[in-house]
Amino acid sequence: MEATFKSIPKDEAMKSESLEEIKSKGTFNESVELLALRVPNQMCGTLQKKFKGFLLDRPKIKPINEDKNDPQRRLVLLREGINKDTISTVLSKDAMDLITSNNLEMTNHTINLNFDNFSTDQVLKKVFPTSNEVQTSFETIGHIAHINLREDNLPHKKLIGEIILAKNPRIKTVVNKVGQIENQFRTFQMEVLAGEDNFETELKESNCLFHFNFREVYWNSRLQTEHERVVSLMKKEDVICDMFAGIGPFSIPIAKNIGCTVHANDLNPRSFFYLQKNAQINKVQSKVKCYNMDARKFVESLVKPSDPSQKPVSFNQVIMNLPASAIEFLDVFPDLFQDSSLKRPIIHCYGFSKDDDPKKDIVLQIEEILGTQIFPIRVHEVRDVAPKKLMLCVSFELPYFVNAKPMKRKQESTDSNGDKKLKSKEEE
Ligand SMILES: C[S@@+](CC[C@H](N)C(=O)[O-])C[C@H]1O[C@@H](n2cnc3c(N)ncnc32)[C@H](O)[C@@H]1O
Repeated sequence: MEATFKSIPKDEAMKSESLEEIKSKGTFNESVELLALRVPNQMCGTLQKKFKGFLLDRPKIKPINEDKNDPQRRLVLLREGINKDTISTVLSKDAMDLITSNNLEMTNHTINLNFDNFSTDQVLKKVFPTSNEVQTSFETIGHIAHINLREDNLPHKKLIGEIILAKNPRIKTVVNKVGQIENQFRTFQMEVLAGEDNFETELKESNCLFHFNFREVYWNSRLQTEHERVVSLMKKEDVICDMFAGIGPFSIPIAKNIGCTVHANDLNPRSFFYLQKNAQINKVQSKVKCYNMDARKFVESLVKPSDPSQKPVSFNQVIMNLPASAIEFLDVFPDLFQDSSLKRPIIHCYGFSKDDDPKKDIVLQIEEILGTQIFPIRVHEVRDVAPKKLMLCVSFELPYFVNAKPMKRKQESTDSNGDKKLKSKEEE
């Protein structure tokens, strides 16, 4: 869920008060005079369609009400700002025609507002009336609202947290990101602005239930459409290798909704824990095999098991969603597939580009690591992550490595915090 907030002026008088104090001063109690129409009962359906966007839009107030003076009619409340002088310029031609052709009576009507009748955005406008038009948004993760406050909003962070909490009944915890995502597990520091200090949450995506601790693992609700897109590409007979599976937003729905066997891996022990738990919750534990390894070692263990009595796993779809460095991990494939008789898998590899031609650039990044040309099935733009920085997904069949000169393989070591240290073989 997203909401638009306003940037907050530094000299704001109410900044040091709590929401309860602001409410107790009657800040939200006001009378508003509206223009209303007296409409025959049977016409209300048609009117509702033609007046979309012109009816009163306030929480907990219905725009169409009984007309106490006439049981055959309803009183239709128009949006604030519309009055007898402005109506003909504000309304659409269709809406105006409906009034004139049916000779609908206009009347003034007063409503009494209180805190309940303000949306989050309206409360913020009321509390910070001299604000500039700057957007802030929050992401909803189960019961948690996650906000990235800008520097100039920070003096008001508690009040903003209280407002989000008060206006969104399903939200129980409001958190602000502190610092950037820096560690390898893609988790970040956060502070609780309002509500319970509880990060264990549950949500639904792709018809599956996901349980996790938002402090301990990576989750991004903005990737829902992308998760669903990739899930829909799979066929029942596919065998999936999910190298950076997180808590399973690709793996679990692919197993549950499509019926595939999935080999799902994540280096973060807590992601691995919730991956297993989510496989159980969604009753796909027999289809989702979970691993807690570095992604390169994971792929090696499937293709060339160290135990000679074990058969290699012949997967035909690979998902690599670690956009900051997934492309580097492609270097695991040339060695393994050089003389292997295994069928070439389709790889869905994520990455970032800041180039003017991002689609071309990301393909070049991949070809540089693999040391050979690829023939993409699709290069998909996922989302803007920053101004001029795009996240993309390239789907391609792993090429044959005849005469290929892959980049020098990089060795990766991970310390106990999940922070990675990369060094090439040449540096050793
Ligand atoms: C961007 S998240 C994506 C998670 C999940 N696929 C999703 O879409 O939400 C990347 C994941 O890769 C994991 N990871 C990072 N480095 C890894 C490595 N070397 N091997 C395996 N997993 C790794 C992180 O713990 C994190 O869960």
